[in-house]
Amino acid sequence: MWEIINDFGEATKRVIKAGFDGVEIHGAYSHLLQQFFSSYSNKRNDYWGGSLQKRMNFALEVIKRVQEVANEYAQDDFIIGYRLTQEEIHEHAVGYDIHDTLQFIDRLADTHMDYIHVTSADYGKEIKEVINGRTAFIFVPHVFNVQDAVDGLQYGDMISMSRQALIEPDFAKKIKEGKEEDVATEITSPEMAKSLAFPPKMVDWLLDPKGKNPVPKGMDYLKEPVSD
Ligand SMILES: Cc1cc2nc3c(=O)[nH]c(=O)nc-3n(C[C@H](O)[C@H](O)[C@H](O)COP(=O)(O)O)c2cc1C
Repeated sequence: MWEIINDFGEATKRVIKAGFDGVEIHGAYSHLLQQFFSSYSNKRNDYWGGSLQKRMNFALEVIKRVQEVANEYAQDDFIIGYRLTQEEIHEHAVGYDIHDTLQFIDRLADTHMDYIHVTSADYGKEIKEVINGRTAFIFVPHVFNVQDAVDGLQYGDMISMSRQALIEPDFAKKIKEGKEEDVATEITSPEMAKSLAFPPKMVDWLLDPKGKNPVPKGMDYLKEPVSD
C-alpha cells in the first residue's frame, strides 16, 4: 500500500518536472482510489477498510503524499485537485451513496487541496453546502449551451464540460469575446459531424446506449457515414 502511495508521489514529481501547473488526483469512475472508497470492492478489515472512515484512508494518504512532494519540489502556486464520482450504485449492491460521499468531501475539504471536482450534475447544492468555501468546487452540470454553464455557477466555483466542448471547441473563447450567439450547441448535419473528426472509437463510446448522462443534441449524426 505504501509503495503505491509513494508511486503517486513519484508521478507528481514527474508532473512537476514536466512543467505542469498542477495535478488532479483521479478518484472517480471506478479507478483505483474509488475502489478503495467503495464497500463493493474494498473488503479489507485493517487501516484501509472495514468502515466508511477507513475506506477514505487510501485517498487521504495519497493526497498527503502528493502534497508533501509538491511542497518539496513545486512552486507555491502548484495546484492539487481531487476528482470523484458522487455515487457507486450497482444493480444489486451499493458501493457508496451520496451520504457517504458528503462525509468524504467533508474530509477532503479539510486537506487544504485546491479544488474538488465531481463527475456529474447530481447533488451540486448539497456538495457546495458541505464544502462551505473551504476549497473550490468544480461542478459538471452537463453543459449543452451557454445558459447551462451560467446556471452551473450557482453551485460550482468553476464548471467543467466535455461533450459540449467537443461540439464547440471555441465555447469559452466565444463567450469571452461576447459572441454567445455564435456558440454551436448541437451537431446539425452529417457534414458537421464529419468535420468534427472524432475518432471512431470515441464515437462508439459517445453513442454507447449504456451511458447514463443526458446526451447533447445531434449526436445521432455521428452514426451516419458521409461520402467524400
Ligand atoms: C471524449 C471524452 C473523454 C473523457 N475522458 C475522461 C477522462 O480521461 N477522465 C475523466 O475523469 N473523465 C473523462 N470524461 C468524462 C468527463 O470529464 C465528464 O465527467 C462527462 O463527460 C460529463 O460531462 P459532460 O456532460 O460535460 O460531457 C471524458 C468525456 C469525454 C466526452
